[in-house]
Amino acid sequence: MSEHPHIIVGGGIIGLSIGWELLRNGAERVEIYEAGEAVRSGATWVAAGMLAPRAEANFEEVGIYHAGVASLNAYPDFLAHLGEDADNVPRLDTCGSLMIATNVDDKRELDRQFEFRKRIGCPAERLDGSAAREREPLLGPRVTSALWLDGDAQINNRTLALALKQAFVKCGGILHEHTRVQSVIRNGESVTGIQVGDEVIPAASVIIATGADVQIGGIDPLPVRPVKGQMIGLRAEPFAMLKQPILATKAYLVPKDDTRLLIGTSAEEVGFDKRVTAGPILNILHRAWEMVPAIYELEIEEIITGFRPTPRDHKPIVGRGTANNLYYATGHYRHGILHAPLAARLISQLILSDRWDRSYDEFLPSRFFTKAVEVAA
Ligand code: GLY
Repeated sequence: MSEHPHIIVGGGIIGLSIGWELLRNGAERVEIYEAGEAVRSGATWVAAGMLAPRAEANFEEVGIYHAGVASLNAYPDFLAHLGEDADNVPRLDTCGSLMIATNVDDKRELDRQFEFRKRIGCPAERLDGSAAREREPLLGPRVTSALWLDGDAQINNRTLALALKQAFVKCGGILHEHTRVQSVIRNGESVTGIQVGDEVIPAASVIIATGADVQIGGIDPLPVRPVKGQMIGLRAEPFAMLKQPILATKAYLVPKDDTRLLIGTSAEEVGFDKRVTAGPILNILHRAWEMVPAIYELEIEEIITGFRPTPRDHKPIVGRGTANNLYYATGHYRHGILHAPLAARLISQLILSDRWDRSYDEFLPSRFFTKAVEVAA
C-alpha cells in the first residue's frame, strides 16, 4: 500500500463527501486541495438544497433521474453516519415538492412533464389550482394546475457541507484551502502526484472533484462549462413560510430552516461572469411573485451567483479516468447536493476495493476520452 495520500482536488460537497467516506471506510491518508475556501467558494454554498429527483427529472435524462432517487434513498444513512463525526447535522426534510403552472404555456408543459413521469415510472399526482392551494395555501390565484411529487425532499446544504468539512477533519483528513492545483503528474498508466506552485506532491491516487472550474493541467480536458445561476435569499417571515419547494419553468422558491426563502434561479451561458445583473433578478422575482404573491413584502437578505459544472450531455462524470489511479466525480450540473452520497459511495468503493456499480456506466469519464482504462466489473 502506498504511504502517499489520496488527493482530492476540490473542497465542495462532492470532494468533502468522498474524502470523509474514504476515511470512514479505512483509507489512512486523504488530503483535499481547494483553490478557494472549502464549502463557501463554489456551487455548494449557492445551491438551494433541493433533493428533488422527481421534480427535477428532465426529458430524456432517465439515468440521472434513477441516480438521483438512489442518492436520495442513501441520504438517511449518510446523515446518520455523519452524526457520528459532526456536531450539527441538518435534518432531511421529506416535504415533497410542487411543480406549478401559472399560464397556458406552463400548463401544456406540465402536461408533458406528467406524461414523461408516467413513462419512466416516477410517481406524480396531478392537481388543479384549488387542490394545489389546499396543499400550499400561499400559492396565488394565477396557479391553475400543479404536479405533486411525493418523496422529494430538501436539506440545508450549507449546514450539511459544514458538517462534512468538520467530519472530514475529525476523521484525520487534511484540508488545504486557497491552494490551487496546477496539474496532475502522470507516469505511464498511473498518476504519481500533483503540482502546486513549484512543489510536486506525491499521491496514491488523484480524485478530480472540482466544480465548473475543472480544467487542470496534465489530464484530458473535459467538456464541462459553467452555467451561471443567480439566486435571491429573502428573509422569510411567518406569514410567508412555504411548506415545500415550489418549482415552475424558469423559477423556484425553496424555504430553508435558517429563515431564508430562496428564490432561484437563472441559467446563463456567460462563462465565469460573477456579477449580479438586473434582468435575471427581475425575471426570477417576477415569476416567483406570480406563484407566491406574499413574497412582495419580504426583505432581500442576499443575492448570490454560482456556476453549475455542466457537461456536454448533462450527466455527472464519475469513475476512473485514463490512468489506473485517476478518478473523477464532477460535472454534477444541477444535482451536486443530491448526488453527493452516491458519488462518495461509487468513488470510495472504486478506490478501496476496485468495485464499480455497472448501473452507472453511463456516467463514466471514458465517454469523453479516446483512451480509457477498463473499470473492474
Ligand atoms: N438544482 C437547482 C439549480 O441548479 O438551480
